[in-house]
This record gives sequence, C-alpha cells and structure tokens, in this order.
Amino acid sequence: MTTRTVGIDDLGVYTPSHRLDLEELARSRGVDPAKITIGLGVQQMSVAPPWEDAVTLGANAARRVLGGETLQRDEIGMLLVATETAVDHAKPVGIFVHELLGLPASCRTLELKHACYGGTAGLMLAAEWVRSGAARGRKALVVATDIARYDLHSSAEFTQGAGAVALVIGEAPRLLALDPVSGVYAKNVYDFWRPLDRREALVDGKFSVDCYLEALDGALDDWVALARPTAPPAAACGALLYHTPFPKMAYKAHARLMAHEWRRTGRGADGLTDATEQTYAALVDPWLGAARRIGNTYTASLFFCLAWLAETAGDRLPGSTVGLFSYGSGCCAEYFTGRFAPDSAAVAARIGLGNMLATRRPLSVEEYEWYAHPATTVQPAAGEAPAIRFLGIEDHKRRYARLEMHS
Ligand code: COA
Repeated sequence: MTTRTVGIDDLGVYTPSHRLDLEELARSRGVDPAKITIGLGVQQMSVAPPWEDAVTLGANAARRVLGGETLQRDEIGMLLVATETAVDHAKPVGIFVHELLGLPASCRTLELKHACYGGTAGLMLAAEWVRSGAARGRKALVVATDIARYDLHSSAEFTQGAGAVALVIGEAPRLLALDPVSGVYAKNVYDFWRPLDRREALVDGKFSVDCYLEALDGALDDWVALARPTAPPAAACGALLYHTPFPKMAYKAHARLMAHEWRRTGRGADGLTDATEQTYAALVDPWLGAARRIGNTYTASLFFCLAWLAETAGDRLPGSTVGLFSYGSGCCAEYFTGRFAPDSAAVAARIGLGNMLATRRPLSVEEYEWYAHPATTVQPAAGEAPAIRFLGIEDHKRRYARLEMHS
C-alpha cells in the first residue's frame, strides 16, 4: 500500500447565467409553492440556454482551474468527463472539452457514465491512478457536467438544474486529501433512466428515493467493514455531504445515516430523532445553499455541495474532516471521507460560486419553456455569451466557439 497523499488539488465551478424561480413555476403549474420550497427544499434552478450543453458547461468549469500559476495544461495526463447528458453515442464529451481547453495530446481522455455516480467514479479512478504511481507526477482533470431534464408539467420538473464542477486530482492536494478506503454498493434497479431516443429522463420518483436510501445503507455497511471506524460519521466529521437531487433528499439521507449508526451500535430509538435534527442542522443543512439555488446537476450535485462548503466555511476548513455520499441511479453508490488541507482556505477563496449565482438573469416561465425546446441556431445576446459556447450542428457535427483564453 502506497503512502502517497492524494486528493482534490483545485476545484472550478460553472452554472449557466439563467435561473428560474421555482415558486413562480409552481404557481403556473397550479402547485402549492410550499410543496417545492419546503417539501422538496429547493428555491431556484439554473436553466441551460440553447448555446450551452454538457460540453460547454464542463469546459467553462474546467477553464477556471487552468492557466493560473498553480496548474499548467501540460501537467494534465488524464481527462475524465462524467455526464449523463452525452451529446453523441460514440464521440465522448471529453474530447470536445480536451480541444476547447487546449490540453496536451498525451492525455488519456474519455467519458464516464453511471447516472449521478459518474463524477465520483471519475474522482476515485483518478485518485487511484495518482496513488498507484502511474501518473508519474502528472495530474488528472475530472469534470462532472450535466443538465437535469424531465418532461415539462411532470412532478420531476421541479428537480431540474444545470451545472458542472471540475476537479484537479493530484499528490499533496491543496484542497482535500482523500482517505484511501471507501464503501461501495451496486445493484441493478430501474429507478431512473434515459432511453437512447429520449432527451428527457424517465424516473420512478418515489422508488428512486427508496433505492437511494437502500444504497446508502449498503455503502455504509461496506465502509464500516473496510475502514473499521472508531467514531461514527456524525461524530468524526465536521460536515456531511450527500448527493442532492433536491435538498429534502439530503435530509432523508442524513436521517438514514443516523438510523444506520443507531442500528449498528445496538441502540433502540431513544435519542435518535433529537440527534438527527441536531446533526442535520450543524453538519448538513449549511452546505445545501448551492443545491437550493441551482437544482439538480446529476454528476456534479455532490461536488457543488463540496464547493459551497469550501467557499462558506473558509478559514474553518483546514484540518476538518468531511464525509461524502454519492448515489447514481441504476444503481451505484459510494461513501468516502477526506480531510481539508492546510492551504484549503486559500483555494476555496477563489471558487467564486456565490458571485456566479448572484449574477444569473431571472427567466419568466414562458422563456424557460421556450428554452426547453429551442431552435439550435439561437445565439446569446451581447453580454450573455459564456467563454465557451455551442454554435449548432452542421453536417451532423457539433460546433463550438471559445473566446480567447489566457496561456
Ligand atoms: N407544503 C409543504 N410540503 C408539502 C406540501 C405542501 N403544500 N405538499 C407536499 N409536501 C411534501 C410531501 O409531504 C413530501 O415530503 P416528504 O417526502 O418528506 O414526505 C414532499 O413535499 C414531496 O411531495 P411528493 O408528493 O412526494 O412529491 P412528488 O410526487 O411531486 O415527487 C419527487 C417528488 C422527488 C419524487 C419527484 O420530484 C421526482 O421524481 N424527482 C426526480 C427523481 C429524483 O430526484 N429522485 C431522487 C433520488 S435519485
């Protein structure tokens, strides 16, 4: 077993510059807004305009960690792009991102898929590549990028969103060192899927919640058996982050994690409810700020929680421990832990997520509905164009444009 310390060296985020107020959507659908803001716990969602797709979201997130003093392009030896919003059945999102970022030819590049778990899959594979020594001092770039789309007027419509998170994985990470042992659970279930001929996902919503919670139990069982923890997650960690398709799901997950701990240690129900409420308020709820305002971002969802934690906790980060739970329908799940590095507050200070959220333009419900089924030729108005954008399809080939980037 190697003694290399491996983890997340840097983190870049991106979400489209348009948002929809979900109380407004609820009113227009004849739904009580409290069901959405309290029942699901979400307030807004980011909406991808026609000139954004999984490629541009991912590339716009990744460009925020490139070209600075800390990372040169030729240091990257592997690019893993996780998405369930693929743009082609054969050609990977990653190879478009590779070109748009100007990455070196000597860079293993591929796309990963396992619903919302794909980002964590990429993180783990990249960490193991670095830990094994195969990286030879180079770094991996893992990009989780998605547009969560369900049918208009469906109950799942309120759990959409769009965004991407890019993670730089390397030795002696400046943000978060990953513990090498994690707990994994996989099982074939039909809770959420997107057949090859569909743009919008299909979901058995209530069943997907049950599958998520069953997978959490399974991943925790595996983690306990392998890591043999001396303290339960809620005592050992300063923060607990869960895959968050909607914020209430993180509450349900946390209640399940606490019940798992009570069962494992042979306690009855005494004190469980109070302990759940107290630990939820201290360890989970403060880090859901991005999820409440962006909505579901599938592969990137867990990492937006990490970004919000990093940005919000700031100087309190160094030395603190975080537990993370990732779930992807279908299904595969993983529970893992990490410790924030001495330099983490400085890295976190450059993320800029709060500012990105605050400067989005609100859409009307009519504009949102139009964006959901756009003509591909639509281009942004002056001032609305992101650094990297989708131009359209010519001769079955996707075309992209990028503004000049530094170095
Ligand atoms: N005021 C406050 N809360 C209200 C309410 C009101 N007027 N009306 C309903 N609620 C609550 C419900 O009690 C429920 O809370 P609970 O789950 O704690 O019991 C919550 O709002 C949702 O209500 P529900 O009737 O279950 O919603 P729904 O049938 O619209 O389905 C999802 C919700 C999440 C299943 C649906 O949005 C979906 O399928 N989303 C996509 C799949 C997904 O995200 N899965 C997650 C696991 S990957």
